[in-house]
Amino acid sequence: MSDSDDTQLEARLAEQESFEPPASFVEQANVSDPEIYEEFEENWPDCWERAADLLQWESDYDEVLVDDDEPFYEWFTGGELNASANCLDRHLDDRGDETAIHWEGELGESREYTYEDLHREVNETAAALRDLGVEEDDVVTMYMPMIPELPIAMLACARIGAPHSVVFAGFSADALATRMESADSEYLVTCDGYYRRGDPLNHLEKTNEGLADVAHDTTTVVVDRLGDALDHELAEDQLDYDDLVADHEGASVEAVTRDAEDMLFLMYTSGTTGKPKGVKHTTGGYLSYAAWTSHAVLDVKPEDTYWCSADIGWITGHSYIVYGPLALGTTTVMYEGTPDYPDKDRMWDIVDSYDVNQLYTAPTAIRAFMKWGSDYPDRHDLSSLRLLGTVGEPINPKAWKWYYKHIGGESCPIVDTWWQTETGGMMITTLPGVGTMKPGAAGPPLPGIDAQVVDEAGEEVAPGEAGYVTVNKPWPGMLRTLYKNDERFVSEYWEAYSDPDSDEWVYFPEDGAKIDEDDYITILGRVDDVINVSGHRLGTMEIESAVVGVEGVAEAAAVGGDHEMKGEAVYTYVILEDGYEEGEEMKQSIVEGVEDAIGPIARPEEVLFTPELPKTRSGKIMRRLLEDIANGEDLGNTSTLRNPEVVDDIQEKL
Ligand code: PRX
Repeated sequence: MSDSDDTQLEARLAEQESFEPPASFVEQANVSDPEIYEEFEENWPDCWERAADLLQWESDYDEVLVDDDEPFYEWFTGGELNASANCLDRHLDDRGDETAIHWEGELGESREYTYEDLHREVNETAAALRDLGVEEDDVVTMYMPMIPELPIAMLACARIGAPHSVVFAGFSADALATRMESADSEYLVTCDGYYRRGDPLNHLEKTNEGLADVAHDTTTVVVDRLGDALDHELAEDQLDYDDLVADHEGASVEAVTRDAEDMLFLMYTSGTTGKPKGVKHTTGGYLSYAAWTSHAVLDVKPEDTYWCSADIGWITGHSYIVYGPLALGTTTVMYEGTPDYPDKDRMWDIVDSYDVNQLYTAPTAIRAFMKWGSDYPDRHDLSSLRLLGTVGEPINPKAWKWYYKHIGGESCPIVDTWWQTETGGMMITTLPGVGTMKPGAAGPPLPGIDAQVVDEAGEEVAPGEAGYVTVNKPWPGMLRTLYKNDERFVSEYWEAYSDPDSDEWVYFPEDGAKIDEDDYITILGRVDDVINVSGHRLGTMEIESAVVGVEGVAEAAAVGGDHEMKGEAVYTYVILEDGYEEGEEMKQSIVEGVEDAIGPIARPEEVLFTPELPKTRSGKIMRRLLEDIANGEDLGNTSTLRNPEVVDDIQEKL
C-alpha cells in the first residue's frame, strides 16, 4: 500500500464510528441469530439451560435458579458434575490426541500437552495431593507464574473437590500470607522461580518469606521451573513436584461428584477496604458461564487455537485460559513471558507460529503495541486470526482502531468485554456474530444479562448522561458470597441499589458508565477506591496502609491518576513524621514498602511530600481532589475544605 493510500485509510478509520462484523465471520459464528436477545429475555431464567447444556452433568439439575434467599442465589440446583472431568475426560474419545495446552516459555522453549497428556498429569497430581492429605473442600493455594503446572494443579484440585485459591505470582510475600491465612489454606503449590526478560527470578525466597508469616502449619509443593539456572534448596518439609508426580505415575483418580453449588475456587480481589475480598465461585454456574461466554463471545470451537494473553493469577486467566476453553475442548495457548522479549514482535511471532485464531488481550498491551509501531506485527503473517478481544479497562477508540487495522487486518470483529472477578465471566460486550461494534463502547449487555445505567436514585439515565452500572437480575457466573463473610457480600454489592422490602435485588459493580440510544454501554471506570493499573485492580486503602507502614510516614493518601500507557497510575501523597527528611531516600523506601506489601504492579508513579492532606470540614481526605491534582485538572472551588491552602502547595510540587 502506498503512503497516501495508507493516510487515506487512517483518515477514514479515524472518522468511522461503527463497524459491522465481516460477513465471513458471521457465516461461521457460533452465535449469529439476532433473535437470541429476545429469546433469552422471554425464557429467562430457563434460557441459561443453553449454557448448562455445554457441560456434561453427572446428574441433572432440578431447577435452573433458586431465589428463596436473595441475594444468595443458587444455580442449577440439584445438578452434579466435576469441572476437571468436564475439561478433560469427556474430550478424550474425540480429542485425546489433540493439543489442549500449547505452552511457550519466555526463552523460546515450548511444551505441548494433548488432552491425553493433560488428563494423565492432572490425575497424577490429584493422586499426589490426596496422598499429602488434601481432602474435599480444603482450600489449596497456588502461587505460580505462567507455567503448565499451574492449570494442572488447578484441575487436579477440581478433580478431588478441593477449591483452589490462586495468588498472582507478581504479588508480594505479604499478599500470599494474608490470602493463605484468610482462607485457612494449609496447602501451597509454588515454584522455584521463573524467567523475566531472560533473567531467572527467585520465587521460592519470596514464598518462604510469606510462609514465615502464616501462623498455621502448611504443606508446600515446589515445582522446579528453573533447573540449574538458580540455586535453591527445599526446606526439609517442602516437597518436589516432579518427585511427587513420578511417585504417582499412571495413577488414576476418579473425579469426585460435586454439587453444582459446591465451591470451585476462591479468588481474592481488591475492594474499598484494605482487606482483599475472597470471591467465591461455584462449580455448575461458573463453569457453564465460562463455557457459554467462550462459545458465544470468543467464538471458540474445538478445532481452534485460541490465545488469551492474561495471567492465570487473575480472573481472566481462570475463565478464559483454563476453564472456558478447556470445557469446550479447544487448544489454549499459554505464554510465560513479556510481550517485548526478546523483541517487540513476540506476540505476533506466537500468533504466526501457532496459527492463533482468537486473541484476547488488554488495552494496556494494545497501547504499548501501538507505541512500538506497526512494523512489528507487519513482520508476521497474522491471517489465521478470526476474532480479537480486549478486557480489563476501557479501550480508547484510537487504540481500538489500531488493533482492528494492524492486528485484525480489518477482517476480525473486536469484542470489548466488560466484566469483573465477581461476575465470573463477560457481562457487557457485543456478540461478534451479531452486533455492530462501536469503538470505545463495550456494547450492550449480553443476552440474559439485565444491566442498566442508573443515577444515584436508581433511575435509568438518559442516553449520553453519566451514571452507574447496575445488574438487575442474577446470572449463573455470579459470585455466591465473599468467603466466610456473607455480611460484607451483601453490604458491598447489594445494599446500594436493592430494595429488600419489595424483594428487588440489584447488583452494584461500582463502575461508572454511560449508555447510548442503542443501549451500548461505555464504561467510565471505578467509582469506589479501586485503581485500575494496566487492567490490574488495586485498592487505594491497601496501598495507603503499605505506605503508612514505612518508618517515618505519618499519613498517606493514594489515588489513581491518568496514565498514557497504564490507563491509571498510582499517585501517593505523603506526610512525614517530625524528624524525617523528605527526599530521594525516603521516596525509595516508600516505593519499596509498597512493592513489599503488594508487589511491583502497585509501584507508585509519584511520591509527593506534603505537610497536610486536603480534607473536608468533617476530616475526610478529599481523594477526588487529589486525583484532579494528579491529572492537572481545574479544581474549581476548594474553599469548602478545612485547609484549602495545602492545595496550592501540592500543585506547585507536582
Ligand atoms: O472497572 C472495570 C474494569 O475492571 C474492573 C474489574 O476488575 P477485575 O475484577 O480485576 O477484573 C478484570 C478482568 C475482568 C471493572 O469493575 N474493566 C474490566 N473490563 C473492562 C473494564 N473497564 C472498561 N472496559 C472493559 N472492557
